[in-house]
Amino acid sequence: MIDVNGQVAFLTGAAEGLGRTVATELAAAGMRLALMDVQAEKLERATRELREGGAEVLPIVVDLADADATRRAAEEALDHYGTPRALIHNAALLREVSMLDVTFENWRRETDIILQAAFVLSKAVWPGMTEARSGSIVYVSSGSALGGFVKETAYTPGKHGQEGLMKVLALEGRPYNVAVNTISTGRPIDTPMSDSHYTDEMRIGIVPPSTLAPAFAFLAGIDADFATGHRFNAYQVSEAIRVARQRAGR
Ligand SMILES: NC(=O)c1ccc[n+]([C@@H]2O[C@H](COP(=O)([O-])OP(=O)(O)OC[C@H]3O[C@@H](n4cnc5c(N)ncnc54)[C@H](O)[C@@H]3O)[C@@H](O)[C@H]2O)c1
Repeated sequence: MIDVNGQVAFLTGAAEGLGRTVATELAAAGMRLALMDVQAEKLERATRELREGGAEVLPIVVDLADADATRRAAEEALDHYGTPRALIHNAALLREVSMLDVTFENWRRETDIILQAAFVLSKAVWPGMTEARSGSIVYVSSGSALGGFVKETAYTPGKHGQEGLMKVLALEGRPYNVAVNTISTGRPIDTPMSDSHYTDEMRIGIVPPSTLAPAFAFLAGIDADFATGHRFNAYQVSEAIRVARQRAGR
């Protein structure tokens, strides 16, 4: 485990939902942040709140469905901070549309945000992380990365693709001590995404995103010699951290 205090994290989808909470957790751990999101106003608000709490934040408004814009966003973050300790790709878009109705453009947009951006951002930080022989890349996964769900014609293939990319990069990153993992939420989380898509049945066991946040600060501080090529469960990891802290009296 690396002490992440003063270290840099690039985090996507940070304007609201899980990403917003993870940004707070990383800032509380002392990390300096490059936050990427397509929602300019919400990202500005998040930046202001985090800065008021003492965090160092570089906000980058970017549509992660656009490969060139994503590349430019990564370059901006790299120019500002240099190679980050952690890249957490959390942004995603879920639109439930059946195969009969989905358009190619909609299919591309969702898969590009989830999978193409994972590739473009990882590619951008890879030379620096491998040279440093240290770093952690995390893709936020889902039950949709393992199973299929009706009307998730793009989200599910995107999440499956992230798991595949993680497995390849974990193998290639291991000799350089760069950790590449995915993390599923482990529980439905109360966010704008679940608000607009989840049925009552799907909301059973729902938790606030803050419940899952400790797992992200933990994974930001690992290298491949600790764990790579894994699919973590954010709920379980966060619970384990909470129990460990309680036992340590913290
Ligand atoms: N909500 C759940 O119960 C749940 C369950 C399993 C997995 N997940 C995963 O957790 C992660 C966070 O989900 P959430 O519930 O917070 O989602 P959310 O929709 O509430 O928030 C997603 C964030 O990503 C940003 N984003 C979306 N499209 C973007 C684009 N084109 N460019 C840049 N940013 C973009 C949004 O603006 C938003 O800030 C996602 O990867 C999601 O797949 C969520």
